[in-house]
Amino acid sequence: MRKLDGKFAVITGGGTGIGRAISLQLANEGAGVVVASNVIEQAQAVAEEVEVLGGQSFAYEIDVTDAIEVDKMADAVIDRFGKTDILVTCAGVMGARSFLTETSIECWNKTIEVNLNAGFYCIKAFLPGMLERDAGRIIMISSVSGKQPAAMNADYAASKHGVIGLMKSLAIEIGILGKNGITANAICPGSVDTPMISAITDKLWNPDRETREAFQINRIESKNIQKRLLDAEEIAFMAAFLASDHARGITGQAVNVCAGTVLF
Ligand SMILES: NC(=O)c1ccc[n+]([C@@H]2O[C@H](COP(=O)([O-])OP(=O)(O)OC[C@H]3O[C@@H](n4cnc5c(N)ncnc54)[C@H](O)[C@@H]3O)[C@@H](O)[C@H]2O)c1
Repeated sequence: MRKLDGKFAVITGGGTGIGRAISLQLANEGAGVVVASNVIEQAQAVAEEVEVLGGQSFAYEIDVTDAIEVDKMADAVIDRFGKTDILVTCAGVMGARSFLTETSIECWNKTIEVNLNAGFYCIKAFLPGMLERDAGRIIMISSVSGKQPAAMNADYAASKHGVIGLMKSLAIEIGILGKNGITANAICPGSVDTPMISAITDKLWNPDRETREAFQINRIESKNIQKRLLDAEEIAFMAAFLASDHARGITGQAVNVCAGTVLF
């Protein structure tokens, strides 16, 4: 018997990077997974990987910033799997990566929409079923930027701080309702080797000043105690643990998986 046998999970942003690793790890532990993404080809490829592992899976095309579509997705999962035990809100964008004064209102709003508001839409759509069964796991992917802001990152840091505030409020309300079968937590990754880190490097790296490799070492890897990028699988192991029954007493927590980037 594996830890997540008989469970069904929805992973937004499941087609690449951390979301892909979480989809595969939850499947490894026995869960059926819905790989939700705005890029359907990527979601389909991950769903196929899950099937190769012997798991149940389907890909779902969605823009998580559309609350009506998120509701429809929750219904589609019920139709196909009968229930959602685990919700992982992982879809995200890197944000403006510019000074506040140079950050457009459109870019600010997009970052908040994808990284924060979409998490709220997903909770509204998936929590009622969990409350009915007094069973569920909500895992939100925040960031160390949700604890420690930095320059040229205000929209992203605000969105990721918001995720932690949303998750903690949710955990408190679940407690007031006496639904101890449900937990809500966030994971705060440090810098993880994914397409997002590559895109950030593309945006900030100045080839006149240093090599791309030197930029990664000096500006990204050196930010943590271990002086390295994390692998997406390291985040996925934490998600699988939080999704399991072993973590039933962990709720309202923002857990760092960050190679020591922040120490609080
Ligand atoms: N890579 C890092 O260093 C790092 C660090 C801390 C937190 N995070 C967070 O981890 C999460 C995953 O990021 P990643 O590093 O794997 O990058 P990524 O770019 O590979 O993943 C983001 C995913 O979100 C999807 N997505 C974006 N907008 C969407 C939308 N509107 N609707 C549906 N899907 C959408 C993308 O298609 C993509 O698959 C993000 O929330 C990110 O903020 C990443």
